[in-house]
Amino acid sequence: MSGDLSQEKVVITAGATREEIDPVRFISNYSSGKMGFALAEIACVRGANVVLIAGATTAEPPAGVRIVRAFSAEAMHRRALEEIAAATIFIAAAAVADYRPVRRANDKIKKSGGNLILELEPTPDILADVSRRRHAQLIVAGFAAETTNVLAHARTKLAGKNLDLIVANNVSEKDSGFGAETSRVTILRRDKENQPLELPLLAKTKVASRILDEILVLRRELFPLDSPSV
Ligand code: CTP
Repeated sequence: MSGDLSQEKVVITAGATREEIDPVRFISNYSSGKMGFALAEIACVRGANVVLIAGATTAEPPAGVRIVRAFSAEAMHRRALEEIAAATIFIAAAAVADYRPVRRANDKIKKSGGNLILELEPTPDILADVSRRRHAQLIVAGFAAETTNVLAHARTKLAGKNLDLIVANNVSEKDSGFGAETSRVTILRRDKENQPLELPLLAKTKVASRILDEILVLRRELFPLDSPSV
């Protein structure tokens, strides 16, 4: 296939995870999957081989992209680690639940009248683990969904998860949060942390295109001679 991403295999996580409490209930969040879907669509149009690992989503998935469903953080984590072996770019756009119930009840929990205490434990950090276990030529990018001190938190995640690039998004803005068609983001590169690229309010497909532009520039700077060899 032609296009400036035709040499790339791009793995993208999207949507919300669901952490089951019992057979009829779960913990989740408002992610629609739109940003991850936009990235997958545009990467595919630009010639990449795309694998989309999606949790629960309400947006329409892009046509022609291979979708692997993984609803829990655990399942998404497993699939992501499998798929990165042959990938050149990994982008974590999923809204992964940070906690899950310690025990999932086999039967529906009945109400007892009193308070119910749910004990939660941390889920695996998919993005941090992908970064830790990556092969030398994998570019790793993530999002920082924040409501306050957006850039400061994004920089902490960029360094803490050892990313090449992070997309900072203020999700408390109505036109830029979960479910919106548009987004206003700032892109931060690890090697140019003090030169944030602030984008205006754009359609998520346009944002996706700009993120992929930056990733491609980074790939060419990091691996100037190639052809990725995975
Ligand atoms: N992420 C992930 N696995 C997790 C949590 C987050 O892969 N268990 C990824 C998200 O897909 C995103 C990035 O990490 O690309 C940052 O996610 P975010 O929700 O902004 O932050 P957290 O790391 O969860 O930290 P906090 O909730 O404290 O802001």
